[in-house]
Amino acid sequence: MNSPHYPVMNREVLALLAGTRKKLFVDCTVGLGGHARILLGACPAARLIAIDQDRESLARARENLREFGRRVQFHPGNYLSLFEDFACRRLGVSGILVDPGISTLQLKSAQRGFSHSLDGPLDMRKDTASGGPTAADVLNTFPEAELAGIFSRFGEVPGAGRLAKAVIEKRLFAPWSSTAQLRRLVEEITRWRPRPGQVHPAARVFQALRIFVNREFEGLDAWLQKAPANLLPGSRLVFLTYHSLEDRIVKRACQQLQRLGLAVPLKPFPAFPRPDEIAENLASRSAKLRALEVA
Ligand SMILES: C[S@@+](CC[C@H](N)C(=O)[O-])C[C@H]1O[C@@H](n2cnc3c(N)ncnc32)[C@H](O)[C@@H]1O
Repeated sequence: MNSPHYPVMNREVLALLAGTRKKLFVDCTVGLGGHARILLGACPAARLIAIDQDRESLARARENLREFGRRVQFHPGNYLSLFEDFACRRLGVSGILVDPGISTLQLKSAQRGFSHSLDGPLDMRKDTASGGPTAADVLNTFPEAELAGIFSRFGEVPGAGRLAKAVIEKRLFAPWSSTAQLRRLVEEITRWRPRPGQVHPAARVFQALRIFVNREFEGLDAWLQKAPANLLPGSRLVFLTYHSLEDRIVKRACQQLQRLGLAVPLKPFPAFPRPDEIAENLASRSAKLRALEVA
């Protein structure tokens, strides 16, 4: 997650994308338009396709990027269907940015249910238009072993099995519906006492549910493998990751494409936020940047 004022590693992203033919960029996860604004400002001849699966974010990006007028085309949807939705090669796409996760708009909206510190419904869907299951649906219907797997795989939650068992026990009495209910259960189980500098233990649990509800890593490897065939030689793909599993998928796909001679990794590989960026925007601390150029 990041803020519109601190698009993560924006200097590095700009340096990598400005090194292309600067014709047409795709911001696959435009959020509030932070990176897009920097890119369009720095490359006056460039146009941009702005994608987000969250229609509320896309509406905000539309406002925030109004000054660029028809240079920006907005597209609601999942970027994993980019190559089906747009003929990127024929259009001359020269650079693609993926900065997934959640935006501050999503995190700070209690109604969306992404934050353990705000009371709201346990929703957590980024794409609310397509009507998939919410985090509450998952907690209310999934068997114990599956819940434990989600907590452990996507959140590395200590005591994932114990938490899953407690979730099942609680739902026998009342269905899961609010973020506060879940936060209280985590606090009970971990005997949480706030201490300065300590991350709340519910953060990992919420992260795990968010990743699962939005199927965040599904289809990513296949999408990356398809990129070279759908882009012109010299085009660049810049990917920010915030989770070790996601980073592993991107890293392995890059290695595979390099082995096949379809793309070359751009250095430094991976890159991390500078200490001054982390000091200014703590949310950037888990970011890793990887970039590829199509051969
Ligand atoms: C960290 S924010 C992006 C922030 C943006 N780079 C900026 O500078 O304002 C992540 C955004 O990606 C969107 N997103 C995440 N996964 C997506 C996907 N598979 N397809 C489309 N949008 C996605 C989220 O809805 C969210 O708005």
